[in-house]
Amino acid sequence: MEPQTWLKSEAAEQAYEPRRRRGLHVGLSGKLLFLTIIFVMLAEILIYVPLIANFRLNWLNDRLAAAHTAALVLDAAPSGMVPESLAQEILDSIGARAVAMKMGNQRRLLAAANVPSAIAQDIDMRNVSWWRAIVDAFDTLFFCRPGDAVRVVGPAPMAGGQFLEIVLDEAPLCNAMLAFSVNILLLSLAISGIAAAVVYFALHYMLVRPMGRITQNMVAFRADPENPARIIALSGRRDEIGTAEEELGAMQRELASSLHEKNRLAALGLAVSKINHDLRNLLASAQLFSDQLSTSADPKVQRFAPKLMRALERAVAFCQSTLSYGAAQEAPPDRKTIPVEPLIDEVHEALGLGLDVPIRWIVALERELTVDADHDQLFRVLLNVARNARQALESRGQRDPARDQIRITGRREGSVVVIEISDTGPGVSEKAQAHLFQAFQGSTRAGGSGLGLAIAAELVRAHGGDIRLVPGTIGATFSIRIPDRAVDLDAHRGQRARA
Ligand SMILES: Nc1ncnc2c1ncn2[C@@H]1O[C@H](COP(=O)(O)OP(=O)(O)OP(=O)(O)O)[C@@H](O)[C@H]1O
Ligand SMILES: [Mg+2]
Repeated sequence: MEPQTWLKSEAAEQAYEPRRRRGLHVGLSGKLLFLTIIFVMLAEILIYVPLIANFRLNWLNDRLAAAHTAALVLDAAPSGMVPESLAQEILDSIGARAVAMKMGNQRRLLAAANVPSAIAQDIDMRNVSWWRAIVDAFDTLFFCRPGDAVRVVGPAPMAGGQFLEIVLDEAPLCNAMLAFSVNILLLSLAISGIAAAVVYFALHYMLVRPMGRITQNMVAFRADPENPARIIALSGRRDEIGTAEEELGAMQRELASSLHEKNRLAALGLAVSKINHDLRNLLASAQLFSDQLSTSADPKVQRFAPKLMRALERAVAFCQSTLSYGAAQEAPPDRKTIPVEPLIDEVHEALGLGLDVPIRWIVALERELTVDADHDQLFRVLLNVARNARQALESRGQRDPARDQIRITGRREGSVVVIEISDTGPGVSEKAQAHLFQAFQGSTRAGGSGLGLAIAAELVRAHGGDIRLVPGTIGATFSIRIPDRAVDLDAHRGQRARA
């Protein structure tokens, strides 16, 4: 399956559909509008409470002020008496039923008309706390009945007076407070509407819309991640949304390029499989022809024919295994205890370092050194590393037969076999070292594919071992470590029992 097919699979599209229909974009805007209205209304309520209390105090103070003036007039009347009709007019203008004043021990009723028998509430305006004012305001607002009267006490207008008091109907106060509340309510609605609209549009343009753009881009990118046109275009903002866009863009570019790489590798894998297939057929025919060589009487041909046969056999087997396991994966190693020396000789032969090549081949192995490995795979590892060494030596212009050498050492350290291949070439360049064991990345050589060391590393890892470049040596030294397999005690016991 091609990499992009799963990305565009129907299941993935379907899984995404319901989310898109739910409409994240609209949901966020709607919530925002709702919350703004709620918060502004809450703020208005907090403002309304002291406002209504203050309104009531002002209303009562206005009455007291009017009574204050009236008291001065009434008090100044000759012998304290005014005609009934004038007293009534004065009381009407105050909106009071009675006006009285306390002077010394005496309480003087200055004017009165239809004074109610019961007083619902006593209010002393000389000393009102804020809390009291608020509680009384709501008391008036909610529990006022028609015909209720209140007594309001204020400071006396002239020296010698203790206080001034008036008796009022509560209903006009109630009505005024209700009218005031309705006005405030209408005003709050208007303010919260305007504030909500302003906040909504500001946030919508500053946050919701850019976020919607990012979301839409993610949806579009997900549907076709290989299309470079779907990578988000940066708006150039310098805030968090700008950062989110930049990060998203970088992520999308990386994803797109790694998908591209993957596709390239998949195509390459296919090509390798095809090449392998036909190469195997060609090699098989070559094998058939070389069979004929064994019948030749020429001693030189007699000497080389078996080697040629062995090389062809190995090549066919290798092509076959690549075909059956796919280009990307090696067959698991088929491990046996094998002597190292003949293996190194095979590498020497395969490398073609005959007498006419001025490179010395020095082998220094522990005596009868054996390694627990897959013969063909270890051969490929050593050949790849040794071929690099030969190529490194040959890459230099002038040759020095006395100096140019490839040295192979081998030793056992406990249950690990260490094989080192060193050369006296120019050493591994820094550029090559940066991606040394990565496929297609490490090559700095003209005509090199950068696969040799990647293959070697993969094969060594399959043996549980490792390969590394030894630092600080003349030329280049690669160290390969292959540990023995762990012994399965049960299987071992079973074998002994059978024997
Ligand atoms: N012994 C060495 N001395 C100097 N440079 C080396 C040596 N071995 C490897 N290199 C560097 O490492 C790079 C990667 O080696 P690798 O074998 O992976 O790829 P390659 O040799 O370029 O191509 P190929 O796939 O044909 O082997 C080489 O291009 C070379 O620059
Ligand atoms: Mg190589």
